[in-house]
Amino acid sequence: MAKVAALTITLLGLLVSVTCQGSIYSAQQQQDASSSSSSPGCILRGWIPFLHPCRDGQPPTPNPLPPPSGAGLTVGYYKNCPGAEGIVRKAVEKAMDNGNRGIGAGLIRIFFHDCFVRGCDASVLLRNTSGSSDQTEMFGLPNINSLRGFQVINDAKAELEKACPRTVSCADIVAFAARDATRNLSYGAIDFQMPAGRLDGRVSLKEEAEKNLPGPFDSLDDLQKSFAAQGLGFNDMVTLSGAHSIGVARCRFFTNRLPPNPSDMDRDLARSLKATCDQNGLDSKVVQDPVTPVALDNQYYKNVHNGKVLFTSDAALNSTDDARKVVDGFANNAVDWYRAFADAMVKMGNIRDRTINRPKPEIREKCFIYNTY
Ligand code: HEM
Repeated sequence: MAKVAALTITLLGLLVSVTCQGSIYSAQQQQDASSSSSSPGCILRGWIPFLHPCRDGQPPTPNPLPPPSGAGLTVGYYKNCPGAEGIVRKAVEKAMDNGNRGIGAGLIRIFFHDCFVRGCDASVLLRNTSGSSDQTEMFGLPNINSLRGFQVINDAKAELEKACPRTVSCADIVAFAARDATRNLSYGAIDFQMPAGRLDGRVSLKEEAEKNLPGPFDSLDDLQKSFAAQGLGFNDMVTLSGAHSIGVARCRFFTNRLPPNPSDMDRDLARSLKATCDQNGLDSKVVQDPVTPVALDNQYYKNVHNGKVLFTSDAALNSTDDARKVVDGFANNAVDWYRAFADAMVKMGNIRDRTINRPKPEIREKCFIYNTY
């Protein structure tokens, strides 16, 4: 009996190690992932492929929280700096007009990645963290070599410091820029007001980005839990996922769904992605929405329905009747989704720091470094 158990354990161990070696990560990345995973909670869970030892039996996120209240945030907050929102809008439009509409996708994603870690406090912009030499959020697996648009935020901040010194927080700049990019990428269809009054944090930790942000290998249950941990519901999760109707993604995050692996991806799309990824490598990028790649629209939901999405986490929205109902509703009614997306962006923007007692909340002078005075 003992021998059978030992053999089973050995075989399982082999299976895990072989699967990891054949997986989409380099040996170094697997080592990094494993060493990070030795800390409690196996933090990289949704950002590493299935069958990694780190994925087994670990709750991915903390307990659910009540919906974010947004207390203290108001529309038109910068009455003492009336040009503030216009300055951000100009910086966003300038960056996007330069033939780089993709920057808009980056700005929407920065907002999401900021708000899910310590609330919307611009912690994702920090290159150093206060009181420690640890790496910051921007070096975490969800962000490194991936997030784009930082320069737009820094440029807007430089202009704002000239117009109204030490007045407009970087967290609000991130929120305004995401709203402006949304309007621009949706060709004016999603146009809404963004409440403001956020403060900037001083702490930013790589591990927290890896723990809190849902990953492309997540199941529907995982996704739901990471949104619930921010006080966001199932509908918010499905609604905000529609942002994957724009922007790009690296092959490494979806090769698990390409031939010869079994998957429910549309066969023609899977074949063409396989050819692209084989030829150009795991770090090459493809558009997320093969049908309307540069428009922020409800095409994402048609793609989910038709098996034309990239990640396991996208396809998960087609995996239960409840999810399919919301997906098909948005696929059939663009205006419903435009409205829901605007509301969900405001709700996400209401997520506040609940985990730490910030001794010195502040308005940063430069968005990439906390104030040193
Ligand atoms: C539901 C869980 C989500 C998962 C698992 C996820 C995962 C990912 C991944 C893996 C990428 C590609 C990154 C790379 O290849 O470097 C990506 C791109 C992107 N995501 Fe998500 N995401 C999720 C939700 C969201 C939400 C809520 C938003 C915004 C509201 C968003 C906006 C974007 C955008 C705009 C891009 C393209 C960025 C660019 O082109 O620079 N995602 N996402």
